[in-house]
Amino acid sequence: MAIERTFSIIKPDATARNLTGAVNAMIERAGLRIVAQKRVLISRDQAETFYAVHRQRPFFRELVEFMISGPVVVQVLEGENAIAAYRDLMGATDPAQAAPGTIRKVFAKSIGENSVHGSDAADTAGREIAQFFAGNDIVG
Ligand code: CMP
Repeated sequence: MAIERTFSIIKPDATARNLTGAVNAMIERAGLRIVAQKRVLISRDQAETFYAVHRQRPFFRELVEFMISGPVVVQVLEGENAIAAYRDLMGATDPAQAAPGTIRKVFAKSIGENSVHGSDAADTAGREIAQFFAGNDIVG
């Protein structure tokens, strides 16, 4: 199996409830390593660039407002098939559809305030990591 890196965001609804450690415990329990991490307030420009693929969606404005409403924790996770493994651990976008034991089932408040983001593919992961981390910020 391939060792991969994926990009993760612990979103404002989770940081507001002081859940960074609880989410990180689930990540580490799933066998993923947190190889870079920082707590930041992202700018409107950063949020719009990050979610550019959703620009035409009806929820785009709401999504950007939410992502800049409070601190987020951006992370790089490393492990075997990390991209798929983290998507499995997060669960479905809508917590009502998420499987038991997933981060979103346990913590998410709604489809918008859904606690975590994870990259959906290898090319996206590379782009998303590069938006927030320089190569020497990541220590595996
Ligand atoms: P994320 O994995 O960060 O990628 C895009 C985000 O858009 C998604 O998680 C949700 O938080 C958000 N999103 C998707 N659908 C909706 C929706 N119907 N209403 C509000 N936000 C949504």
